[in-house]
Amino acid sequence: MTGFASQPATRRQFLGLTAAAGLALVSGCSGREPSAAGPPTTGGLRLTAAPMRVDLAGHAVPTWGYGTVPGPEIRLRAGEVLRVQLENELTEDTTVHWHGLAPPNGMDGVPGITQDPVAPGEGFTYEFETPIPGSFMYHAHVGMQLDRGLYGPLVVEPRTEELSYDREYTLMLDDWRDGMDDHAGHAAPAGDTDPDPADTVSFGGRAYPLLLVNGRPPEDPAVLEARAGDRVRLRVMNIAADTGFRFAIAGHRLTVTHTDGMPVEPTTVDALRLGMGERYDVLVDAAAPGGVWQIGVQPEGRGGWGRALLRYTGSDASRAPEVGERPAELAGQLAVYDDLLAREPLALPNGTPDRRYDLVLSGTQIGGQSYPDADPLPVAEGEWVRFTMRNTSAKWHPMHLHGHHFQVLTASGRGPVKDTVAVPARGGEVTFDFLATNPGRWLFHCHNHHHMEDGMVRLVEYGRR
Ligand code: C2O
Ligand code: CU
Repeated sequence: MTGFASQPATRRQFLGLTAAAGLALVSGCSGREPSAAGPPTTGGLRLTAAPMRVDLAGHAVPTWGYGTVPGPEIRLRAGEVLRVQLENELTEDTTVHWHGLAPPNGMDGVPGITQDPVAPGEGFTYEFETPIPGSFMYHAHVGMQLDRGLYGPLVVEPRTEELSYDREYTLMLDDWRDGMDDHAGHAAPAGDTDPDPADTVSFGGRAYPLLLVNGRPPEDPAVLEARAGDRVRLRVMNIAADTGFRFAIAGHRLTVTHTDGMPVEPTTVDALRLGMGERYDVLVDAAAPGGVWQIGVQPEGRGGWGRALLRYTGSDASRAPEVGERPAELAGQLAVYDDLLAREPLALPNGTPDRRYDLVLSGTQIGGQSYPDADPLPVAEGEWVRFTMRNTSAKWHPMHLHGHHFQVLTASGRGPVKDTVAVPARGGEVTFDFLATNPGRWLFHCHNHHHMEDGMVRLVEYGRR
């Protein structure tokens, strides 16, 4: 079982916990250790965005972060209030976006759209209820700040956990280049690199010399401990700016239980594909004959390699797999949207959608327009809205909608509920439905941050009726 001992915090307890929890959170997830089940269950903390150094296998490189990379894991229980005091010690404006949550619009963290940017030396308090459990992320939402270390995991635990497991870990996958120019051996050419042959699954094209798992390069991997016989829950999150990943564990299969935090009928596969912004929760049975096993993170459509280790307690770490060893499972059966069945489908009415948008994704345009020279996509409160995206470009685009969960339309009629969906290149098509029940001005954009900066953004806008 999970062993979360905490009681649901009352409002008063919650306020009382704030100061202590801030400290606990900062020491609880240092980026040196994979975050483990256990500590702090509260939403009260301070996040300070500041220049810092991160230790990459012995090289201390400069970046911007929230004290550690990834930032502290924020954990609360469904129905609690998330309260985060952001302090900006950067030399630029910043904000925090709560990726996958559906807060009131003013708490969504998009500068110039949902709030004034937080200037250097200033602060901002984010405060809202988190009724929906799941695996989420937070990250800066100004320019390319996400490309640095300004991100972290956010887990909302259900009031009653339906899954049974013995321990859990969060794994954040990232592409990295901060400070890398200084280190020969890690250097890579700048600019676009991919010629993209027709069968390549490519989510981006920029050069990233390193891939990190929980802030650690392959030479100094995070080690996940498990006892033989344990059932381990992994929350795998892609926070990269420009890289889609294939994920697998040598000698183990993965039972997918959630995508983007939302439950699906458990389905067992060998590997996951994660576009930027996507998350998968999986259960892994530690049923191999002991040892140390490679957790492989293979970028889609480009070179490079990331990894962590799964170590059976008591096994000899000196017998760990070679840095570059590729689990055969990476080429095995992949979790695909068509095979995922929502356990809690959206409450869509009978009949047909109230409003539809057919949007061609071409280059970095959505529906032929490039933000900010783009019209908002109007909807009305209460409507059932359908987006169909057809991607004519050579890159896969992971499309993310703020403030809502949507349901992917698949042949089963019960496709997964998500907030980020990868649309395949060269004619790939994805349709999703959502209910316009959270009025405001919401971003709909590609989660390749270079594409986003190039204008691959539209606004979904509606007021209260
Ligand atoms: Cu992670 Cu605008 O999103
Ligand atoms: Cu894109």
